Amino acid sequence: MVDFKIDQEKCISCGICANDCPMRIIDMDQYPSLTLENEPKCIQCQHCMAACPVSALSIVGKNPEESEKTLDLPDSKLVDNMIKTRRSTRNYKDEILDKNLINEMLKTASYAPTGHNDNGVRFTATYDKESMSKFKEMIYSSIKSAKEEGKLAPEMNFLYQLQQIWENTGQDRIFWDAPHIVIASSSNKNVTPIEDSIIALSYFELLANSNNIGTLWNGMIKWTMEAIDPSLIKKIGIPEDHKIGYIMLFGKTNIKYPRAIQSNGIDIHSFTIS
Ligand SMILES: Cc1cc2nc3c(=O)[nH]c(=O)nc-3n(C[C@H](O)[C@H](O)[C@H](O)COP(=O)(O)O)c2cc1C
Repeated sequence: MVDFKIDQEKCISCGICANDCPMRIIDMDQYPSLTLENEPKCIQCQHCMAACPVSALSIVGKNPEESEKTLDLPDSKLVDNMIKTRRSTRNYKDEILDKNLINEMLKTASYAPTGHNDNGVRFTATYDKESMSKFKEMIYSSIKSAKEEGKLAPEMNFLYQLQQIWENTGQDRIFWDAPHIVIASSSNKNVTPIEDSIIALSYFELLANSNNIGTLWNGMIKWTMEAIDPSLIKKIGIPEDHKIGYIMLFGKTNIKYPRAIQSNGIDIHSFTIS
């Protein structure tokens, strides 16, 4: 079922795979093995294959030689600096990103952890200007219709004000003229669909930023799709059993921040138990 295979010519019987298995279901005899009885407990995380120092272990049909090799870690000072100097982008170039680059970044984001290794995050993105502009029209028009039909909750009235700015001045305070959007969703049958989607987008954001691509988490579009006009969810092909984790705008940025903000948000505690 999970196709657990050991290349006995390569295996050095070190036991690392058995010790790292989160379910502790790999038996170590002369060589590692997985009994038929234990197979259903496997969450197919592939830790055993990733940890094997001699590429002797294959699972779920994967060839360990085809796994990406681990490189040296990036300089922690640079990673630290990238996190501190990351900013929400509301100032985009009117330029479409290469589709392959978007797909590569989303592919990497799908390496983010998921509860119970469900791996169910679906990315729904736009690649072209026309789809983005039509989707934007749909969002603004749903807000306007809800207001006119008296269906807009008072706490959502600010969205109507933004719609009016858009209609009267062409200023886009919801999408900020971002050229691309990605919506991360996951089936409600998965154990942690919202968390999985948000974590994947966080990974996407940092990778995008490292490629000089700006990002903006966007609650306004999410609220419009979920609370004002849920028919939009189906219209863009998100499956009915999916929960939207979050939504992110992205694209080449027009602004460079030469310094970080100064965080007021630190709230660290510790506890000791005696
Ligand atoms: C969950 C979440 C939802 C957000 N929704 C929006 C949004 O709808 N529109 C917007 O302009 N910014 C949105 N933001 C961006 C925040 O306003 C922004 O993170 C905050 O102002 C701090 O700025 P910084 O990200 O540059 O540090 C959102 C951020 C998060 C984390």
